[in-house]
Amino acid sequence: MSVRSVTQAAPKGARDAKAGAIAKAKAVAPDLPARIGSTPKTTFRGDADVFGRLVEDHDRHRALLAMIEETHGRSDDRVRLFEELTYELKGHAAAEEQALWSTVLRDPETTDDARHAVAEHKQIDEMLADLAARDMASPGWLRRFAGLKEKYLHHIREEEQEQFVAAAKRLTDADLRHMRRVFEGRKKAEKAAATVEKKIRLKH
Ligand SMILES: [Fe+2]
Ligand SMILES: [Fe+2]
Repeated sequence: MSVRSVTQAAPKGARDAKAGAIAKAKAVAPDLPARIGSTPKTTFRGDADVFGRLVEDHDRHRALLAMIEETHGRSDDRVRLFEELTYELKGHAAAEEQALWSTVLRDPETTDDARHAVAEHKQIDEMLADLAARDMASPGWLRRFAGLKEKYLHHIREEEQEQFVAAAKRLTDADLRHMRRVFEGRKKAEKAAATVEKKIRLKH
């Protein structure tokens, strides 16, 4: 039984949250379009708790991924956007693990959800390191990047549609407010400490 009071985000609040997240990504390369298309429906977008904050980051990441697909060769935009994507994804994943998944992991009912999400973070890290190690100017780079994009979009869709929904039923309003504060602090610190690692993955 959920102890969380379910409040449907006002459509305008959700739209504003998405627009704000895209604007943050656009600041890195203002001339490039961010064609994120339609996003999977979620009631969390625009919420004041941790899930609203996490979806805001997801939208920012959707925009960065779409913008990288608009770049060519080893351009300044591609280099800058890929670096920003790496810091964003690593900072987000680490802070999400500390603020949310650590608690969800402790609850036997939701352990598997947390384990699944954390395992995917590791795979995404490895894909980022693989892309960083490869020649950005080669035509194959964008093809490999498309693989990361697909994997990441799948990861955040599943979080929004399944794991956050399951976790929300087990957490209190106070938990969710506390988690947002923890996430904010840790995201800043983890993003600042994130590095671009370079390591070719031999198996695909
Ligand atoms: Fe995640
Ligand atoms: Fe996430």
